[in-house]
Amino acid sequence: MSENNEHVMVHEDKWEKQNEEEGFTLWFTGLSGSGKSAVADRVGLRLEEGYGHKAERLDGDIVRQHLTADLGFTKEDRNTNIKRVSFLAELLSRNGVSVLASFISPYRERRQKTREQVTNFIEVFVKCPIDVCAERDVKGLYEKARRGEIENFTGISDPYEEPENPEILLETHEEEIDESVQKVIDYLDDNGYL
Ligand code: ADX
Repeated sequence: MSENNEHVMVHEDKWEKQNEEEGFTLWFTGLSGSGKSAVADRVGLRLEEGYGHKAERLDGDIVRQHLTADLGFTKEDRNTNIKRVSFLAELLSRNGVSVLASFISPYRERRQKTREQVTNFIEVFVKCPIDVCAERDVKGLYEKARRGEIENFTGISDPYEEPENPEILLETHEEEIDESVQKVIDYLDDNGYL
């Protein structure tokens, strides 16, 4: 083999190895209380326990206590939040750690940028009518937002731009949580990610 060919082979081997090690990013978007985190947590467990897959959770409430504690909920701040998290998601997923990201991420244009930036980006629209989210009101925030105690609250005093073409649609007011989890696993399986 000539030196030249050897070089090409080594290069191709490395390239294949990199591809094999790629992960994916499941991007759960939807209103507060729609069930993003609950589904993402369970999908993460299934991936790790059932498939021995490396996965990391990036959750709005937690990330905002650490990486983006300086940000609020204006359009600009939300987009900065998503921009930082997208950078992280790309680092992880291109190195074989799949990401389960759950953020309201209300702005379509910002989600589109994330899609373009992140390796194997999969948008999961966690769809749930706002009345159902507000009734669940797990954190008591809808009540506060209605009383005007929280500004820029998504769905009440701030917009949510629904995805137009998500890879996965979950309708958490009509599905049991296990059904939603299974839909995600089936998508990953059908598309060669597992
Ligand atoms: S995002 O818009 O920047 O994507 P993110 O998902 O990180 O939002 O954070 C949303 C969480 O912050 C909600 O689940 C809720 O617990 C809390 N929160 C506090 N204030 C607001 C608000 N004004 N609008 C939406 N969520 C809020």
